[in-house]
Amino acid sequence: MNESLDPVMVLRSEHETVRTVLNNLEGYLKKIGSVSSNGLRNSLINQLNEITAFMDKDLETHFKKEEDALFPVLGNYIGIETGPIHVMLIEHKRSRELSAEFKIKIGNYRSNNDYESIIGVGSSFRQLLSEHIEKEESILFNMADMQLSQDEKRGIMEKMRTIIK
Ligand SMILES: [Fe+2]
Ligand SMILES: [Fe+2]
Repeated sequence: MNESLDPVMVLRSEHETVRTVLNNLEGYLKKIGSVSSNGLRNSLINQLNEITAFMDKDLETHFKKEEDALFPVLGNYIGIETGPIHVMLIEHKRSRELSAEFKIKIGNYRSNNDYESIIGVGSSFRQLLSEHIEKEESILFNMADMQLSQDEKRGIMEKMRTIIK
């Protein structure tokens, strides 16, 4: 089944983009912690806007594709209230909380110069999301590949197409 028809392949390929963004985030956070000039630090912090825009749009759309298209159908086989889908939903919530907190810390930086909390929250976000996508790929997506019929995959794909940025 090619990618245009297989929702699990689409989600896996979106994870590749997530990984790239998380690597960039890690690079920015390291630099923010190590530069000695305030001017340089300010401009690095301004560049985090690319990353917060990704969190607000692309990542949110990706979560919705999982929550509204994949999970309800896969949930018929493995349940939603407990087990891996339940854990994934808790992690989506935590990721949204951390990204909201990250934006607040960036906003506060102008008045308090507290770049260390930007690094702290940013690192927690990076770690949570990187472990999250690893779990989805090694556990949940494999279950989806085993359980879902071609028809169900087509239905999930159609639903995913209605979820746009
Ligand atoms: Fe997820
Ligand atoms: Fe995901």
